[in-house]
Amino acid sequence: MTTASADPLAAAGGWDLLIRRARVATMVPGSPYGEIAGGSLAVSDGRIAFVGPDAELPPGATATLELDAEGRLLTPGLIDCHTHLVHAGHRAAEFEQRLLGASYGEIARSGGGVRSTVTATRAADAATLLLESRPRLAALLADGVTTVEVKSGYGLDLDTELKQLRVARRLGELLPVTVRTTFLGAHAVPAEFDGRPDAYLDFVVGEVLPAVAAAGLADAVDACCEQLAFSPAQVARLFAAAAVLSLPVKLHAEQLSDSGGAALAARHRALSADHLEHLSVEGVRAMAGSGTVAVLLPGAYLHLRDTHAPPVAALRAAGVSMAVATDCNPGTSPLASLTTAMNLACTLFRLTPAEALAATTRHAARALGLADRGVLAVGLRADLALWDADHPAELASRLGPSSLATRVVAGRPDHAQAS
Ligand code: NIG
Ligand code: FE
Repeated sequence: MTTASADPLAAAGGWDLLIRRARVATMVPGSPYGEIAGGSLAVSDGRIAFVGPDAELPPGATATLELDAEGRLLTPGLIDCHTHLVHAGHRAAEFEQRLLGASYGEIARSGGGVRSTVTATRAADAATLLLESRPRLAALLADGVTTVEVKSGYGLDLDTELKQLRVARRLGELLPVTVRTTFLGAHAVPAEFDGRPDAYLDFVVGEVLPAVAAAGLADAVDACCEQLAFSPAQVARLFAAAAVLSLPVKLHAEQLSDSGGAALAARHRALSADHLEHLSVEGVRAMAGSGTVAVLLPGAYLHLRDTHAPPVAALRAAGVSMAVATDCNPGTSPLASLTTAMNLACTLFRLTPAEALAATTRHAARALGLADRGVLAVGLRADLALWDADHPAELASRLGPSSLATRVVAGRPDHAQAS
C-alpha cells in the first residue's frame, strides 16, 4: 500500500493537523503492527492525508496544529465492538452469590440475571440512565476508544428498548466518540412472557424491531442464542426479519454451551459471532471464509470464572478474524477498559499483543461493518490514539492505569478525556 498521498494541500502546507516523530502502528496487514518507526501522520478535513516516514514528508509541509510525538506510539483509535454500557443498576449481589457456589444459569432461572437489570433499566428514566451510563463511556474514551458499539436488550419492551437506544445515541452526541447502536431485543425472555419464547419473539419481530428500524435507532440486530435464551430456529426468524429491513446481524453464540449459533451466524453472513467459549470444530469450519468476525470477550470469561476458553488456535489456523471487546455489562463483565480486555485476551486466551491490537482496531471495525477506520491509511477517518508508550506491545501488557496521552476524533485532538 502507498503511505504518502498526492494531496495538493500538502504542497500548500494547509493540513489541519500534523503529528511528527511518532512510532506509528498503522495496523495495516502484512506485518504484525504495520509499523513505521519515525513516522508522521497528517490530517485534512477529518481524514488521514499522509502517513509515512518523517523523511518522506513533502518539503515545507506545515499544518494549523503541529505535534511532536517525541517517539510516542500512535495507533488507530480503539474500537470497542461489543458493549451493553447503557443500563441501570449493578449486580454485585449476584457476583457474591456466584462466589458462594450458585451458577450464572441458576441465578438467571430464579429471576436474576438479565431480568434483574431489565427491572432496574425499565424503572430508570432516560436522564437517570444517561447519567449512570456516561461515566462508563467516559472511562472507555480515557483508555483510547474512539468508536463504541452499544446494545439495547435490558428493556425487552417497546418503550425501554427505544429509551436505551436513544440514550446510546445521545451519548454519542455529548461525547467525542462514534456510537453504533445494536438492537438486542432478543437478549432474554422477559418475565411477562415466561415460558413463551415464541410469543415474545413474535412481539419483537412484529412490533419492537419495526419501531426501532422506523426510528432509525439501530445499526445492527443481535440476539442471544443459548439454552437460557433463544434457539437457532428462533434466532433465524429474527435474522430473516432483520434482512427484510436491510439491517446487518450479530449473535451472542456458544458462551455457555454449543448451540450451533456461530454456524447459523456465518450462514446469515453476520458481521460477528461473539463469545464462542464453546465453539466446536464444526463451528470454526463454518466461520472460516464466511467473513463473520469472531468477537472474544475475556472480561465475561474472567468474571464468570469460566474455564472453557474459546478455540483461539483453531480460529487462527482457519483464518477467522478475531476481535476483542469489553462486553461492558453489569452481570458478566463490569469492565470499562478495552486495553484491559486486550491484556485478558493475551493472558487468558493466548492472543499475541499484535493480535490483540488488531482485534481492537482493524477486526473490530469489521465486526461493526465500518470500512472507513481501524487502520491508519490515507483517506480513512482520522481517529487516532497517541500513547505514553514506545512499544506497541505495551498496550496489551499493562493492567492499568491507561497510558493514553491524547485521542484524536475525526481529526480533532481531545485533551479533556473524561468530559
Ligand atoms: O454478553 N447473553 C449474554 N449476555 C450478556 C450478559 C448479560 C447479563 O448477564 O446481563 C453477555 O455476557
Ligand atoms: Fe454481550
